[in-house]
Amino acid sequence: MGTRFLPATKAVPKELMPIGDTPAIQIIIDEALGAGVEHIVIVNSRNKPAIERYFERDDELVEMIRAKGDDRLADRLAGIGRDWRVTFAYQDKPRGLGHAVGCARQAVGNEPFAVMLPDELLGDCSLLDQMNVVSADTGGGVVGVTQVPRELVSSYGVLAPSGPVSDDGVIAVEDLVEKPPADEAPSNYILIGRYVLTPDVFDEIERLTPGRGGELQLTDALRAQVARGPFSAVVSRTDRYDTGNPVGFLDAAIAFALRNPEMSDGTRAVLANRVSG
Ligand code: G1P
Repeated sequence: MGTRFLPATKAVPKELMPIGDTPAIQIIIDEALGAGVEHIVIVNSRNKPAIERYFERDDELVEMIRAKGDDRLADRLAGIGRDWRVTFAYQDKPRGLGHAVGCARQAVGNEPFAVMLPDELLGDCSLLDQMNVVSADTGGGVVGVTQVPRELVSSYGVLAPSGPVSDDGVIAVEDLVEKPPADEAPSNYILIGRYVLTPDVFDEIERLTPGRGGELQLTDALRAQVARGPFSAVVSRTDRYDTGNPVGFLDAAIAFALRNPEMSDGTRAVLANRVSG
């Protein structure tokens, strides 16, 4: 609902707020496409039709930009929602992440799929790439994790490892706990909003009862799968930006601008000027 970004989100969904020249949601879609995903399912609220408008064709706009001679931008605009398949599913009430994923059941169908939470932006698609490989090898679900200082774990799903971290960052999962108090957390490896899951999770979601915060938690549905095994975690080696709060969003915007060849020099200059001034 974007409450931490009010009043900005009163009229504009957070997912469309710009990271440089790109709406935040496009960054996570690019990550998915980079890892070979071909069908994007967006679980949306009926109150945010602007998100759907972003994916609609706009031939007039493309032609206008082409007439101005900017073919690169025109191609980029024309490709949105054309070069991959987008389906919308709706969650009518905010009943939790498990419920949101359950709303996508029909659109996803009976095959492995990734869940990607757009509040968490990653520097590239390397984590999802590796998670896909691990899931294909084991036939089981995979979560993306990173280590954080202990005092932060209570805001996240936390991993209980059943063994050591392999050289390529894979950990066998013993259990998962949603937002435990820091002193009860089984580790400081947190779930960072990237999951590669097998479709039997949808049956577990239907069996969910309210968990932490009174919500239907995806973490709780995964526990049932973990108990059956195999279930793995992969430690992310790329940058992570938590855009759930305005400063984190700004951090992501600056980092992506510094990596964009068209914006990096200008961004560097304004930052240097601000910090020294
Ligand atoms: C959700 C998940 C949590 C995960 C987090 C990552 O929590 O429930 O397990 O660690 O995303 O950002 P939320 O931030 O929606 O409360």
